Amino acid sequence: MAFGSFREWIEVLDKAGELRRIQEPVATELEITVLADAEMKSPGGGKALLIEKPTIGGVVSPFPVAINTLGSWRRMALALEAESVEAVAAEMGELMHAKPPTTLRETATLLRNAFELRHARPRQVRTGPCKEVIRRFDSPNTRKEPWPAAPDILRGETTPVHPPTLLDLPILKCWPLDGGRFVTLPCVVTRDPDSGARNLGMYRVQVYDEGTTGVHWQLQKVAARHGRRYYETGTRMPVAIFLGGDPMYPFAATAPLPDGIDEFLLAGYLRKRSVELVKCETNDLEVPADADIVIEGYVDPLEPLRMEGPFGDHTGFYTLPEPYPVFHVTAITHRRDAVYPATIVGVPPMEDFYIGGASVKLFLPVFRMNFPEIVDIALPAEGVFHNLVVVSIRKTYPMQAYKILHGLWGMGQMMFTKYIIVVDDDVDVHNTSEVLFRWCSNTDPQRDSLMTRGPADVLDHATPEVGMGSKLGFDATRKLPGEGFRRSWPPLIRMDPAVEQALKTRLRR
Ligand SMILES: Cc1cc2nc3c(=O)[nH]c(=O)nc-3n(C[C@H](O)[C@H](O)[C@H](O)COP(=O)(O)O)c2cc1C
Repeated sequence: MAFGSFREWIEVLDKAGELRRIQEPVATELEITVLADAEMKSPGGGKALLIEKPTIGGVVSPFPVAINTLGSWRRMALALEAESVEAVAAEMGELMHAKPPTTLRETATLLRNAFELRHARPRQVRTGPCKEVIRRFDSPNTRKEPWPAAPDILRGETTPVHPPTLLDLPILKCWPLDGGRFVTLPCVVTRDPDSGARNLGMYRVQVYDEGTTGVHWQLQKVAARHGRRYYETGTRMPVAIFLGGDPMYPFAATAPLPDGIDEFLLAGYLRKRSVELVKCETNDLEVPADADIVIEGYVDPLEPLRMEGPFGDHTGFYTLPEPYPVFHVTAITHRRDAVYPATIVGVPPMEDFYIGGASVKLFLPVFRMNFPEIVDIALPAEGVFHNLVVVSIRKTYPMQAYKILHGLWGMGQMMFTKYIIVVDDDVDVHNTSEVLFRWCSNTDPQRDSLMTRGPADVLDHATPEVGMGSKLGFDATRKLPGEGFRRSWPPLIRMDPAVEQALKTRLRR
């Protein structure tokens, strides 16, 4: 029933044989990447790693680093405490089937109601383990008692935990040309200054010095929309970044929920227990009381943007420096036995393939409610999320594939998709070889392609401008006479099952 801390989650992975402990010191600068990349590139996503002695400039950090904890279908299912991701998706589908929505707004309302049905609404509590150690940056440390020793972090050692600055956290420099250290699994809480609605998103955080960072909310993301309102009114924007706690928190932070739906509802729904939220020390935002580490602060709209990056990104290339807001730290609080969660992104496949893939599986029922002809959707690893989407449909009328192309490009973060291939329902969209076969054989390039323009992923280095570009869709379905196809469509070659079975029986195979 839900994980009380990231350490508890690590223990479950350990018991399930899904964890490798690395007891030798390993540098947070580039070395952890070597180990993590090898795991992530292993068949099925390898194992999660617990780096027990991560070093920063040669000094062992008191916080162990956990990485690749969600990087396989099995670990994703363990995090969801379910048999499989598909089982959770099926349950979510049933919850929403009661009254199919007719508009996107209705879908959002239905999602919110479905989450609340399961008592997923977050609850406020007064304090929690995330405040076991408190370091305020705006005033000298106000704590009276001496800083506690870290209990039993590694084999009973009692390394003193100094109230940390950003420089004491085992934040990774992932790739050689990265512009510095980056927090790679940060859950970022912001609030809409007009409606008060909360948002939880995952946006990487580049450390500039002990008290300032960049925060990489991209142009089209919800926190960037919140930020624009603070910039318009010139008021300080409170921001809280937390790490750890239940693995459903980082998962919910990455989920493409409609703007205005609180990701803590989704987290509560998935972990089958309300998220307990505690107020930050230095601003009014709330974070999970059971988080491992919390970094509180603000963005000042009067301060100029600062170049962020380069960073070895999801795309498999470095994203080059671009201007982003500066985040000022006002407090860091943490559990005494905090584990620092991390990931690396880079040339696929990586851990994010499973995080993004699980989102697609879970939200397939939502896609189906809007487009009932959709059978399945896949985002192949090679397409790094937004580059390639394959969708299978049960086609019953002319030009239906085009309806799906337009529909998907108009749906939330699907707007970023560069290439969409629509295939018939008898194609396994997760088998990229089968998809390529159907795509090549079933299309006439001129007739069956649709080129259009739209918003693009800002990470895409190939678009002519940041955040805008073109899109190409393919109708690789069987063509109908109503689509102007006057020839006969040939049958696909298939084995005669009776002959096959008879032969197997005769040869005893
Ligand atoms: C590991 C990881 C890192 C990510 N880093 C960023 C990032 O730096 N900036 C960003 O805008 N989105 C990033 N994303 C994607 C967002 O988390 C995702 O689009 C999320 O839905 C955004 O939330 P929002 O819709 O509430 O803005 C990342 C996703 C993952 C899995």
